[in-house]
Order: sequence, then C-alpha cells, then structure tokens
Amino acid sequence: MIEVQNLVLEKNGRRILDNVSFKTNKNLFAIIGANGAGKTSLAYCIMGIEKCSGSIKVDGEEINNLKVYERAKKGVTLAWQIPAEFEGMKVKDYLKASCRCLNLNENKKEELIERTIEKTGLNREYLNREISKLSGGERKRVELASVSLVKPRIIILDEPDSGIDLISFDKIIEFIMELSKESQVLIVTHSKKISSMTEEALLLKNGRAIKLGPTEEILKLYDEVKK
Ligand SMILES: Nc1ncnc2c1ncn2[C@@H]1O[C@H](COP(=O)(O)OP(=O)(O)OP(=O)(O)O)[C@@H](O)[C@H]1O
Ligand SMILES: [Mg+2]
Repeated sequence: MIEVQNLVLEKNGRRILDNVSFKTNKNLFAIIGANGAGKTSLAYCIMGIEKCSGSIKVDGEEINNLKVYERAKKGVTLAWQIPAEFEGMKVKDYLKASCRCLNLNENKKEELIERTIEKTGLNREYLNREISKLSGGERKRVELASVSLVKPRIIILDEPDSGIDLISFDKIIEFIMELSKESQVLIVTHSKKISSMTEEALLLKNGRAIKLGPTEEILKLYDEVKK
C-alpha cells in the first residue's frame, strides 16, 4: 500500500508538484500525464531523490523523512527513465549487486541472474557486456532485470517501454506482469497498452493530481484533457 498526501515540490521558484495526493493498494498502478506533467518528479519524490514536503507512507509507515538508501532498505526501488551508464561495469556485476541481499548461494544467484536477463529478451551473453556500451533499449532491459532481482516491496518504473522495440514490447509487458505478483508496481507511462494492464491510475497535469480511478476512466479523461 502506498499513500501520498499533499506533496509539494518547488524548484527554482517553480511549483513542480502542487499538493499531489493519492493512495493505492493495487499491484499494477499507472501514473499518466503529458510531457512535463510531473511524473518523473513524483517518482523521484517517492524514492527520495527529490526532497519534497508532505507525507509518503508505505504500508502505513512514513518514509518522507528517510534518505534514498533508507527507503531502498524499506523496499522502495526505482527504474530510471534514462538508466545510468556505469562506465566500465559489466552487466553481470551490476545484476549481482542487485541481488546481494537475497538469501541464496552464489550458484543460485547466477542461475537467477541468467533466467532474469533472458526474461527481458536479452540472451545470457549480455552478462559479459559493458553497460556503457549497450544501446538505450538494451540498458532499459538490464535496468528492469536489476529492479526485479532486488525483490522489492514497491517498484516504480519510469516509462519502462521507452526505447523498447515493437517485437520486444510484449516480453516487457509479460515481465512487468510477473513483477506485479510479488511487488506493487507503479508505472509512469504514456503508452495505452502498458497502462491498460493496470487496474488503477492517477492523472497528472501541470503538477496536479487531476483524478485517481479505474485506468479505463483515467485514459478517457486523459484524451479529453489533452484536447
Ligand atoms: N530544476 C528545475 N527547475 C525548473 N523546472 C524544472 C526543473 N526540473 C524539472 N522542471 C520542470 O518540472 C516539470 C516536470 O518535469 P518531470 O520530469 O517531472 O515531467 P514528466 O511528467 O516526467 O515529463 P516526461 O513525460 O517528459 O518525462 C517540467 O515542466 C520540467 O521542465
Ligand atoms: Mg519523465
């Protein structure tokens, strides 16, 4: 369960988030809105990358006073809109770091890493590649594999489909469905196909939460407010 109340974020004198509130216990939840609506800012506030006023509760526990790593320890994870390049780091080492807290022996961890990377549509040879030398879409998939290996309580995916080719799109949808069996997944997206797999959604416009409701209704409203 995530509950956000009266989030306000200001930057350079501009109000980026204006009293945003929502609450959901759905395991597939979409945050929808046009470019610049404040979606990534909201994701950063939940993760603690941006410091905002207001309240953020995970399973009833206030986390808005915590630092990023403390929120991570509470099980909050974010997959970036544009994943970092990590100069010189191999995919395998990055993914090993993601699952370091799992109670598994080294062999089991390696097996899990291989299975996970393949589920994103990348073959296991990618494990020996350098992250900084991957394409944008490939890096995006490594990032998805990484958040899934953390086995977090809450996963925020910032535009998980951006840079993903059409053939791989269904694989990513399947991957997200699987993530939602064990974690609460909040998906920032513009894609109707991705948001249609969620049950509930929040519509943001100019930093304001316009409406929270069943995704179908929110998508209709989104079409109307775009006009
Ligand atoms: N440092 C800053 N100073 C002023 N305005 C900023 C700053 N950082 C972000 N913004 C503005 O905040 C607004 C929200 O940005 P945000 O990245 O959250 O949008 P978004 O909904 O994720 O958009 P997109 O769909 O393009 O990813 C934008 O208008 C952006 O220009
Ligand atoms: Mg964004």
